[in-house]
Amino acid sequence: MIPQSFIQDLLARADIVDVVERYVPLKKAGANYQACCPFHNEKSPSFTVSPTKQFYHCFGCGAHGSAIGFLMEYAGLSYPDAIRDLAAKLGLAVPEERSAPDPARQEKSASLVEVMARAARFYREQLKQSPRAIEYLKGRGLTGEVAARFGIGYAPDDWSSLKQVFPRYDVPELLEAGLVIENDSGRRYDRFRDRIMFPILDGKGNVVGFGGRILDKGEPKYLNSPETPLFEKGRELYGLPQAQRTIRSEGTVIVVEGYMDVVALAQFGVGNAVATLGTATTPNHVHKLLRLAERVVFCFDGDAAGRKAAWRALEASLEQLPDGKSAAFLFLPPEHDPDSFVRAFGPDAYAEQAAKALPLTDFLLQELKSRVDLSTGEGRSRLIFDAKPLISRLQAPMLRLQLTRSLAGAARMEAREVEQLCGLKPLASAARPPAQAVRGGARRSPPPKVRRLLAVVLNKPAWSARLPVEVIQAGGLEGEALKALADAVDHGELPTGGLGLVLEHFRGSPFHGLIDELSSELAAEHPDEGVLEAEFNDLVDSLRFDQIRQEIEVLNAKARSSGLDGAEKHRLAELLAQKHGLKSPVKPGRL
Ligand code: UTP
Ligand code: MN
Repeated sequence: MIPQSFIQDLLARADIVDVVERYVPLKKAGANYQACCPFHNEKSPSFTVSPTKQFYHCFGCGAHGSAIGFLMEYAGLSYPDAIRDLAAKLGLAVPEERSAPDPARQEKSASLVEVMARAARFYREQLKQSPRAIEYLKGRGLTGEVAARFGIGYAPDDWSSLKQVFPRYDVPELLEAGLVIENDSGRRYDRFRDRIMFPILDGKGNVVGFGGRILDKGEPKYLNSPETPLFEKGRELYGLPQAQRTIRSEGTVIVVEGYMDVVALAQFGVGNAVATLGTATTPNHVHKLLRLAERVVFCFDGDAAGRKAAWRALEASLEQLPDGKSAAFLFLPPEHDPDSFVRAFGPDAYAEQAAKALPLTDFLLQELKSRVDLSTGEGRSRLIFDAKPLISRLQAPMLRLQLTRSLAGAARMEAREVEQLCGLKPLASAARPPAQAVRGGARRSPPPKVRRLLAVVLNKPAWSARLPVEVIQAGGLEGEALKALADAVDHGELPTGGLGLVLEHFRGSPFHGLIDELSSELAAEHPDEGVLEAEFNDLVDSLRFDQIRQEIEVLNAKARSSGLDGAEKHRLAELLAQKHGLKSPVKPGRL
């Protein structure tokens, strides 16, 4: 855990303009900076970066966030990595809190990284000295250039060749990194022997694992590193660092099954391919890829195993796919994999295949339809039954609607009936972000005033000191968020540094989704400070007015039923006077 205080410090020192400019050239426009939005395709710039707010916002697609958010969304970094990246650029050391991942563990991963890097270097060196391995790669049509680009190496045919670079062959790190295996009697030997070595890099470019291919025939064909503290197969994708730029510029990523597929495609100029590591595609994989690309094409073998892998990938995609992004499936002829296909027919033919890949909803429908007999009523109802668990996982409302319609067509039903049978909530509420749904149970009608007030205070956290907290009714998420914000300002936890910092302060809290959503509301309006302040005052007055009116109503009701005692009469008179003194309520957001 990285301490909150450090993150706030970091954000106060870092400048979002510098951060964004590392990736996107910005032009000054008034107090802000502008560019064509890097998150969607456009011809005229609607992406703005505000140095005072330390916040970016696109009027076109709504992308927005802090410097940390930008690094996560644009560079695809994880949250801690984005922080480390910012800190490194400022020359700051990231203090890691002593809790969870303790410093010993931190040190350990650092040393594992070092061990893996040294091994990768060694394997690369060994390749140069093995004519047999070089012949093998040449035989598979690889150039030296592409082999270098992927850091391909060779593990010699020797039980302990790593001793050459690790004189202390008995250190625990070698075992933990999965480079050596210890037998029952405690003797060690190299895991990888006489294999072509494919280093697997993580997002930071560290070697976290290897895949080793046997040169001739033998079992297993590929031997992979075990999972280690550095290497989690469900998170890593082979070839991602090398492909990242092309993925971004083309907006598409191709997911294939094999190491050699990635390398061969790259050699033929198809630079946007990555591979899962001998495991099924996970939601985490898809999430990572959809951050970088608009479209994911899963390219699997046409055989039964390939179709099964594709189905797993479909399931992993359902929850990750937002409207506006797409997933599709490419099945090559059974005798081919991407490596052999691109060699046989060339990159253009391959790109053409990828372009007309089967869209996710079509693949889903095709599969489900193939399992039932649609000529019978039983078959048609079975279709909906089978679709139910899948369609309800789909998060993208428009996509879901399309699928519902196609399903309805196939089952000879109405789309509405399918929705009902699948227990789908109406689209309007499905379209709401999950943050809206917290606190369980039905919410009263959304409090637009409190919501608007929250949006204003997010932009001017200092004003929360003037917020009469008692006017905010308990219960609503917006109200709770507003109180949390006022509280943070009160306790000096929120440094003044703009919206970006506020947003980061609440990351991980139950309010983050809401605050993230509201943070771009005002950014889109950019009202001047005087206007904003007037609105703030009006909103506070209006809430106060509502509260007084409510208390009056309660007292009036009591007066009618059982009468008021002296103190209550006094209070009522006081309230009536206060009500009179306040302006009548304004409608929020109408300035
Ligand atoms: P394939 O058997 O399709 O091999 O495995 P390939 O990629 O076409 O390899 P070449 O062309 O014969 O060299 C696809 C992927 O499945 C994993 C590897 O990640 C491989 O790239 N795999 C396969 C293993 O992990 N272990 C194996 O024994 C076989
Ligand atoms: Mn192959």
